[in-house]
Amino acid sequence: MNARLSRRLVGLAAMLGIMGATAVPAQGADGRIPIMVSASERDRVLEEMRVFLHGLHNIFHALSRRDMKSVAVEAAALGREGQTMPAALRNRLPVAYMEMARGLHEVFDAIARDATAKADPFHTLGQLGEAVSYCSGCHDTYRFQIGRITRSPDQR
Ligand code: HEC
Repeated sequence: MNARLSRRLVGLAAMLGIMGATAVPAQGADGRIPIMVSASERDRVLEEMRVFLHGLHNIFHALSRRDMKSVAVEAAALGREGQTMPAALRNRLPVAYMEMARGLHEVFDAIARDATAKADPFHTLGQLGEAVSYCSGCHDTYRFQIGRITRSPDQR
């Protein structure tokens, strides 16, 4: 695990500790923290999620062909430029959620950059491992719940 990722995970753990202490927001029955969203917000984010999964699929196949040019193109599409979340939702999401989302976009930008500059498939594989730890870190922590939208102290 690289230094940047461990810093973020330590930050996340600290934030979850604070949330645990104030018990806001409450954890759901499955232990994940629910984020209240509208049906259309949920659909929109889930669509972006499926784009992530397709993107990973394309990157793995390109990597297995040592086609670093395609790796770069696919990864760049998942980087910060490709971010599509509406501002109204973005501003309401927990800070830790946004940290992980930002971290993930940054890793994809780094994958795109290094696929061109270094063209080393094993280096890319390590970066993909880092990307997937953001996927699972966020999925382990949060879930969406459709319902009345409220703010909590953890949200900005
Ligand atoms: C910052 C948080 C976050 C990150 C990072 C994240 N996800 Fe998600 N993802 C979610 C949430 C929240 C859901 C909805 C889960 C729920 O409500 O049960 C979700 C759902 C999904 C779904 C289900 C889509 C559907 O149509 O039902 C897929 C697939 C998915 N994510 C893939 C990924 C992949 C692949 C990555 C990493 C490349 C990733 N996600 C990174 C938050 C995140």
